[in-house]
Amino acid sequence: MENFAELTEKIFRQTYGFPSENLTGEELDKVRAAVIELRNSYASNVCKPLYQREEIRKAYMFSYYPYYVQPVYEIISNVLRTEWGECMLEYWGERAIGFDSEDLGAVCPIELTYIAGGPCPELYGTVKALKDIGLDNDIYAQIYDIEEGWRDLQNITLDLCKDCYGKNISLTFSSEYNALDSSKQELEHGYGILFIQNYLSHVVDTEKFMRSFESLLNSNRFGEVIILDLNYNATRNIFERICDKDFLSKHRLYTILKHTPDDGDPIQAIHEQPSRGIQKIFNSELDIITYPKKYTKYYYLAFGKLYKPTFGFRVDSRREELK
Ligand SMILES: C[S@@+](CC[C@H](N)C(=O)[O-])C[C@H]1O[C@@H](n2cnc3c(N)ncnc32)[C@H](O)[C@@H]1O
Repeated sequence: MENFAELTEKIFRQTYGFPSENLTGEELDKVRAAVIELRNSYASNVCKPLYQREEIRKAYMFSYYPYYVQPVYEIISNVLRTEWGECMLEYWGERAIGFDSEDLGAVCPIELTYIAGGPCPELYGTVKALKDIGLDNDIYAQIYDIEEGWRDLQNITLDLCKDCYGKNISLTFSSEYNALDSSKQELEHGYGILFIQNYLSHVVDTEKFMRSFESLLNSNRFGEVIILDLNYNATRNIFERICDKDFLSKHRLYTILKHTPDDGDPIQAIHEQPSRGIQKIFNSELDIITYPKKYTKYYYLAFGKLYKPTFGFRVDSRREELK
């Protein structure tokens, strides 16, 4: 991974329009207050959503975003090393490093869909992993989130992705999507991999989420599903429901990788010091705010969807063999 302090500073500068060292006086106090509020919103059993406020979204960018790139990077890298991952690489055109096949020329784009993606650090983590494994297909990414205010900040993600990935990346965003409303599940796009990162910890109504999640699965628009979250009540509950063997069989889901709270030590969040200017926000003479993520652990599920050969566009006989 890149230098963590450089990444946090780059994101800060693009978010606020100036380097973090320049943050002083009242402005510094306001940014610190937003970080404290954001941290407190994670302190109860269900995370309180505060993202309709601009100062909170901006604080999220340097105090949480950089920490959310690495976990999905690790998961995608690991998924692509599995037998299922080999099929994914084959599907994308056998152009990955480690494959002896000739360059086949025309390769299909990689389609990535992010539910509750916000500014979408997980898109950046995904793109980095695809690049490091040797892929250079075009990427179509779609972010769905109820908060329209993330739109500008998603451009920071797009810039980061373009700096690291040589090929074309197109990004679309819709705020017309509610992950709790199963009647509104008509995604404009949505083939390929479905990601839900750091959203289950915000779910109050598990039943509503499950209904809407099932309708996404029934849409047959996804070949893979990756869910990543923190250890909250809703996360544990939803993980249990999804990992139930009847649920998996009903939706023809194949478990590629999983790490639920019952499975022992999960991925530990990266814990490096951000840039010096950002450290100043966290440390003051008056008090010290704990750096986000110091003790955070992530849990995840990665599933492949098995399609019958007659069922359409993503049919892959190798996948059928994996059943
Ligand atoms: C903690 S942020 C996670 C953002 C991003 N996935 C990440 O990992 O950094 C939770 C996101 O869920 C979005 N959200 C909350 N309720 C939602 C809903 N019902 N439907 C869609 N998005 C929702 C919020 O706007 C926010 O962007």
